[in-house]
Amino acid sequence: MYKNLLDEAAKAREKSYCRYSGFAVGAALLCSDGEIFTGCNIENLSYSLTNCAERTAIFKAVSEGKTDFTAIAVVGAVKSGDCLSEKCFPCGACLQVMTEFCDPGFKIILAENGEPKVFCLSDLMPNIFNSSF
Ligand code: THU
Repeated sequence: MYKNLLDEAAKAREKSYCRYSGFAVGAALLCSDGEIFTGCNIENLSYSLTNCAERTAIFKAVSEGKTDFTAIAVVGAVKSGDCLSEKCFPCGACLQVMTEFCDPGFKIILAENGEPKVFCLSDLMPNIFNSSF
């Protein structure tokens, strides 16, 4: 069911700008209206300015007025590697950004042996920062 979203993430990964780590990541974010926004990781000589693929996709969508999301597919591997063979979990920063817009049932689709593996945001981020201001 999420194979197409994984393929979109793999296609987006081809644009990865990862000259420092050599690790290429792609993401494809499915909006509730069916639109898909993709993203790749974008590194910088000042390393900490790197933007992850997931946040690239989310920020692209939000900047286009979309804030209602259903699922995100994430694939990653060394640049010349097979990104559909092993799961690449989102980092904590990206999970935190997801919690800003997505409910706990938001689906995170990873690849393993070429097949989609489906997780919920609450599986990977069971306790979220939730201030009361
Ligand atoms: N990266 C992502 O794009 N997403 C993640 O969730 C974790 C890490 C990128 C950042 C950096 O360009 C490379 O992977 C190696 O850390």
